Amino acid sequence: MLDFAIDTARRAGALLLAGLERQHTLELKSPFELVTDVDHASEALIVTAIAQQFPYHTIVAEEGSGTQHDSPYTWLIDPLDGTNNYAHGFPFFCVSIGLLHDQTTILGVVYDPLRNELFTAERGQGAHCNGRRLHVSTTPTLANALISTGFPYDYDTNADNNAREFTALHAHVQGIRRAGAAALDLAYVAMGRLDAHWELDLKPWDSGAATLLVSEAGGCLSDWHGNPWTPWNDRLIASNGRLHAELIEALQMNTPHQS
Ligand code: IPD
Ligand code: CA
Ligand code: CA
Repeated sequence: MLDFAIDTARRAGALLLAGLERQHTLELKSPFELVTDVDHASEALIVTAIAQQFPYHTIVAEEGSGTQHDSPYTWLIDPLDGTNNYAHGFPFFCVSIGLLHDQTTILGVVYDPLRNELFTAERGQGAHCNGRRLHVSTTPTLANALISTGFPYDYDTNADNNAREFTALHAHVQGIRRAGAAALDLAYVAMGRLDAHWELDLKPWDSGAATLLVSEAGGCLSDWHGNPWTPWNDRLIASNGRLHAELIEALQMNTPHQS
């Protein structure tokens, strides 16, 4: 299954690269949320491949072409994470493919076709990038940390939009990046390029694969209260573990609403 997911992610990544230089058809899913023809084409490639290889597996795919089956296996597909970046030519986007068995993530593949970086994880087998074993950073405190976040697409109408948390945390870290592709942000936590990522309103296809990278690289996952995290929980903290408690405390002190 991992070999299949890798092959499929690479083929979808090649499709993203091929489409990058040409004009895209753009639609708005909501005022700030774009979708391109390439999102749809990538999703069609991945969903078709899974349906051929594993016809009785459930598929949850962002653009809605998934299928429900009575199976313990569920694929979580983000055919293009970082669509706004992609549509503007900003070089930070990826393909994300995760697989759950009985609601536990058992494998995750995140592929950045621009850098040809293939992030893979199997439960209990560690996380790797292009075959190299990944380890989270050893940064001890927020004061020494480079962290990342994202904002929900309804930030103009919803006061619970991470703005207050962002402003508060900014004064306590070496930097906060909002790079615009949550799966790749999380892969960077697994790799130690970032020390932590927090976000609200994440969907299972954003986080399903990449959170396994973080845990298999020795990192820590929870919701914003420190409770165990699942792909169906939309408030995620992923970190190197060392600064996890400090980040939870900082978020709890500054969030206008907690769920
Ligand atoms: C989005 C990106 C972004 C995150 C949003 C996601 P999309 O995914 O991962 O970084 O902040 O929450 O929805 O729409 O580009 O697939
Ligand atoms: Ca996404
Ligand atoms: Ca997407």
